Amino acid sequence: MSFDHAVAMFHHQADACAELGSPLSAALLRRAAGDLAAGGPCAAAIAGHEDAPGPTAVALRLLGAVHALVLSGRAPDLAAHYPDAGGRFDPADPDAPWPAFRAAVAAHLPFVREWLIRPPQTNEVGRANLLLTGLAWAQHQLAAPSGPTAPPLPVRLYELGSSAGLNLLAEQFRCASEGFSYGPPDSPVVLADAWRGEPPAWLRDAPLQRVTDRRGCDPTPIDPRSADGALALRAYLWADQLPRSQRLNGALALAARTPAPVEAVGAAAFLRGVGTAPGALTVVWHSVMRQYVPAEEWRSTAGELDRLAVASTPSAPFLHLAFEPRRVGDGHRFLLTARLATGPTTALAEALPHGLPAWTLAPDDPALHQSN
Ligand SMILES: C[S@@+](CC[C@H](N)C(=O)[O-])C[C@H]1O[C@@H](n2cnc3c(N)ncnc32)[C@H](O)[C@@H]1O
Repeated sequence: MSFDHAVAMFHHQADACAELGSPLSAALLRRAAGDLAAGGPCAAAIAGHEDAPGPTAVALRLLGAVHALVLSGRAPDLAAHYPDAGGRFDPADPDAPWPAFRAAVAAHLPFVREWLIRPPQTNEVGRANLLLTGLAWAQHQLAAPSGPTAPPLPVRLYELGSSAGLNLLAEQFRCASEGFSYGPPDSPVVLADAWRGEPPAWLRDAPLQRVTDRRGCDPTPIDPRSADGALALRAYLWADQLPRSQRLNGALALAARTPAPVEAVGAAAFLRGVGTAPGALTVVWHSVMRQYVPAEEWRSTAGELDRLAVASTPSAPFLHLAFEPRRVGDGHRFLLTARLATGPTTALAEALPHGLPAWTLAPDDPALHQSN
C-alpha cells in the first residue's frame, strides 16, 4: 500500500490552510503527512482512502474527526492546544500539539475511521453579511417610488444549498465595522469587520428586516438543533479561527429558538414549490453552492428563477440574490449579485470567501459589466 498520493494531498492541504489563516491546521497536516509516510497512526486512520481524489479532502476529514474528539471531551491533552476548546496555540511553536494529535488518533481509531466517510460540510455564518446587503438594496429600490419612509416589505426567505440553514436567520445577526453597525444590538452573532471602507449608502440607512417565512433545501441537510449536527458544524471549522467558531456558536443559539427548516431536496425540486405572494418580498438566496449542482439541475433551477422573476409584480415582488465565485477576466471573485423582478443582474459588492469583509465595487470594475 503506497501513501505517496495521500502525502502529497496532505501537504497541498497544509499549504491551503496556511494561506487561509490556520497555522495550527497547517502544522498538524504537515506532521500527519510525515506520519503517513512512516506508517504511523494517521496511515492506519486513512487506510482505504489513501488514493481518494483531491476533492474528497481526506486531510480535512481527518482534521475534522480529531477536532470532534477534542470538542466532545475525548482528547483533553490535545484540547490544551486548541483555542476553540479553551487551549492555547503558539504559532512560534507550531509542532507542540503534534504528539497529542498523534496519540488521539492512535487511541480512537474506530471513531476517526467512522468520521472519515462523511464529507466535510460547513455553514458559513459570515456570508449572511451579503444576504443582508442584498435585502437592504432591494427594499431601497422598492421603497423609492413611495419615499424612503415607507416601511420595508416583510420578507419570505428561501435558500438553496442551506447546509444547516443558519443563514436563514440572517435578520437576527448584527454586522459591524468601523463607524457602522446594522442589526439587533443584542444579537449573539456579531459579524465583525463587515466592511472594508464605507458600506453602501442603502445599507447604512436600512431599516431592520422582518422575515415572516424561512425555508431552505439541501440534499444533505445538517440539523443544527441536534448534538451530532452541531458537533459536525463545529468540527469542520479550524480550531484556531475563533471568530468563525464564535459566529457559529451564536447562530446555533439562535437556531435553537427559531425554526428554519431545511428540506432534503435539490435546488430545482425545491423551487418548484415556491411562488410569490402579495404584500411580501419573496427572496431566493444562495451562497457558494452553485458549483456543486449538476449542470442539468442548474438549468432547471435557472428556469424556476426565471418563472419567479416573470411572476414578480410591484405588490408581490421577487428578488434573486447570490454570493458565488464568478469568473471575471482571468480570475474568480466572490461577488454578491442581485436581480429584482426581470431587471438586470447587478453586482452589488465583493467579499472574501467567508463573507467578511465585504467592499463596494469601483464604477469602472469589469464585474459590473457582465450579465451572469
Ligand atoms: C459549500 S456548502 C455552502 C453551504 C452554505 N450555503 C454556506 O454558504 O455556508 C455547499 C452546499 O450545497 C449543497 N448542495 C450540493 N448539491 C446541491 C443541490 N443540487 N441543490 C442544493 N444544494 C446542494 C451541499 O450539500 C452543501 O451544503
